Amino acid sequence: MKRVAVIAGDGIGPEVVDEALRVMDCLRKSHGVQIELVEFDWGAEKFLREGVTLPPGSLEMLTQDFHAIFAGAFGDPRIPSNQHAEDILLGMRRGLDLYINLRPVRLLDQRLTPLRTRGIDDIDFVVFRENTEGAYCGAGGFFKKGSIDEIATQEELNTRRGVERIIVAAFEYAQAQGRKRVTMADKSNVQRFGGDLWQRAFKEVATRYPCIEANHQYVDAMAMFMVLDPGQYDVIVSNNLFGDILTDLGAAIQGGLGLAASGNIHPGRVSLFEPVHGSAPPLAGKGIANPIGSILTSAMMLEYLGFKEASDAIERAVRAAISEGQTTADLGGALSTKEAGDAICSRLRQ
Ligand code: NAD
Ligand code: IPM
Ligand code: MN
Repeated sequence: MKRVAVIAGDGIGPEVVDEALRVMDCLRKSHGVQIELVEFDWGAEKFLREGVTLPPGSLEMLTQDFHAIFAGAFGDPRIPSNQHAEDILLGMRRGLDLYINLRPVRLLDQRLTPLRTRGIDDIDFVVFRENTEGAYCGAGGFFKKGSIDEIATQEELNTRRGVERIIVAAFEYAQAQGRKRVTMADKSNVQRFGGDLWQRAFKEVATRYPCIEANHQYVDAMAMFMVLDPGQYDVIVSNNLFGDILTDLGAAIQGGLGLAASGNIHPGRVSLFEPVHGSAPPLAGKGIANPIGSILTSAMMLEYLGFKEASDAIERAVRAAISEGQTTADLGGALSTKEAGDAICSRLRQ
């Protein structure tokens, strides 16, 4: 029995998480998925009500009692500082040392990409985003805040260990999955120090994987090539901030944020699975958000937990529902969040 902590969070989070839970429930009997779910109410409401973000002792509790965490999204217009999201989401990523943010970019159906001339063979890669440091280290400060002489510093932290382990993870994945090329994106032509460290670590790690092509691109060029020639990518590795930006672009070319999945992983430890999208306040409470990002995220989690067949079954059901147009409006369909979840559940029951 695997234990999963569920944190639905804010906005459309609870709506899309509900559908993913329903999908996983369908697989209990047919695919022997043995998971026990425990829900936590961490998010904007709790913060506004009690002033609590990530309750004390949570990280220890998650580590001791759970195999995985399944989350929706965090972010609420009533909390412009985004403090609760930072504490909860970045708190888990950093505090549980979930150094791999694995974000697949895969076109499931030709119709979904906005790239006119691209097909499913052209859009199939994974992004390894460093997930514990870089621009997300929280270092910086104000000087003379609010005055005309104000100075704000925002620092970026790159550790040799942190950079090396995400690059190693990308090469290991490429090797295990039969991928041919790892492309590292940085801005080392401007960011002389952090960029230099990434360059050296990348070149050194690459020598340990002679069968895999090591390729480098500046991140601005990568953003362009991701649109013009996405077929060249197998595995991309980048830092926290560039990885964040590139994966929204990656989501767009596979059909939108509504269907992009992700895992925050430390191999062998409790890991966190959440869709790439956020709480999408304009959609919240309307029952129109696409649940597929969350559902494909549940497939990633089930694979991580050892239920590979169940994971594959979800993916097949999602593909089938999409190819028959049984989707929410963002993918061109006319279904509600619940109906789109139903369309996938009913295929799993067949
Ligand atoms: P967002 O991802 O929430 O939404 C951007 C737009 O993408 C939406 O307005 C909508 O048009 C589309 N979209 C996103 N998810 C969709 C879905 N499931 N179905 C259909 N369309 C979908 O990004 P944002 O508007 O920049 O951020 C809103 C809030 O979410 C902010 O507070 C932000 O910090 C937070 N956020 C949280 C996470 C997370 O928890 N992992 C990720 C990104 C943003
Ligand atoms: C993501 C989000 C988060 C990030 C925000 C909500 C902190 O954009 O998961 O991609 O920047 O990592
Ligand atoms: Mn993001």
